[in-house]
Amino acid sequence: MALMTGVQVLIVLSLYAVCHLSLVEAMARRELLQKLVARVNAEGPYVGIVVPNSYEMSPLLNSSIFTPYSTSPIDLSGRRFYIGTIESHKVIIVMTGLSMLNAGITTQTLLDYFDISGIVHYGIAGNTNDNLHIGDITIPKYWAHTGLWNWQRYEDGPDDELSLEENGDFTREIGYIHFGNYNNPPKKRDNYLNNVWFQPEEVFPVTGTPEVREHHFWVPVDKTYLKIAKQIKDIELVSCVNASFCLQTPPKVVIVERGVSSNIFLDNAAYRGFLRKKFNISPIDMESASVALVSLTNNVPFIAIRALSDLAGGSSNENEASIFASLAATNAVIVMTNFIKNI
Ligand SMILES: *[C@@H]1O[C@H](CO)[C@@H](O)[C@H](O)[C@H]1NC(C)=O
Ligand SMILES: *[C@@H]1O[C@H](CO)[C@@H](O)[C@H](O)[C@H]1NC(C)=O
Repeated sequence: MALMTGVQVLIVLSLYAVCHLSLVEAMARRELLQKLVARVNAEGPYVGIVVPNSYEMSPLLNSSIFTPYSTSPIDLSGRRFYIGTIESHKVIIVMTGLSMLNAGITTQTLLDYFDISGIVHYGIAGNTNDNLHIGDITIPKYWAHTGLWNWQRYEDGPDDELSLEENGDFTREIGYIHFGNYNNPPKKRDNYLNNVWFQPEEVFPVTGTPEVREHHFWVPVDKTYLKIAKQIKDIELVSCVNASFCLQTPPKVVIVERGVSSNIFLDNAAYRGFLRKKFNISPIDMESASVALVSLTNNVPFIAIRALSDLAGGSSNENEASIFASLAATNAVIVMTNFIKNI
């Protein structure tokens, strides 16, 4: 190999210096971040407030409800953590972004870095329960992820074993959707889409043995948090979109049995009806069950407050979500604030 010329040596040296400098910088930044996080945690514990999107977070951050600390915000893993107080209770607020993966990652990051005593999740949702109205604020007792499926082989039915069922990977205990006519048992081999079977999630509790899984479908919210939620009454909620357009039924806070989430924006009457009938659900969204499962994994109290902004495909109004989202988000913030006040 030819010897390097003086110029080449210079280039190599300066490249080394640049890389080394950025490494040093990165280490310094990391150290600073660790110190900042330690300072925040020294004031803990905090209630973690996990919010899906900016239109749900803005009414909180733009109001005087939240008072930030001087350490706020801290940016980590592509998320921004707002540290401060709501009604003199210490909180850390974070926005997840859309859907299950983002909600899971963000909740785990919050729990990994910060001293968190419990998680309050709030946002807007679709409504599948005809006894409720747009604008109502639901607090379910249980959440499930309804997007983990075992899709059965064509011509197989309820009596046939599922793939990998023998290993314990999959189960028929929760039930199936038969594509075609879901009201009829899937006896007839009438549809190539056949059946899908809802599956419980594999959960690896932090208190358990690593790699030893538990299976969970319905995740209960925290009992103490639910008691606090039941005490939320007589709070003033917003019932008008603007001066000339109000909800027909004044919004109310309701404890409901169940809610579900998956990576699906549901705007479909048939699937809405199916889920309601099968699981007795009220709100449907794209994050709550993920936050519930991560909280369960980490053995941290959890509750979700979801304001109904649309009928998930169950009405003829195509624009209801865009009309009522802001009102629903504002009311979700009001109920969440009231909940925090009562912790
Ligand atoms: C809240 O403030 C942000 C900027 O901080 C702004 O972009 C947004 O429009 C505001 N939202 C509302 C609802 O006022
Ligand atoms: C009030 O909101 C409704 C629904 O979004 C809209 O159709 C109407 O134009 C609004 N009225 C005013 C005065 O802004």
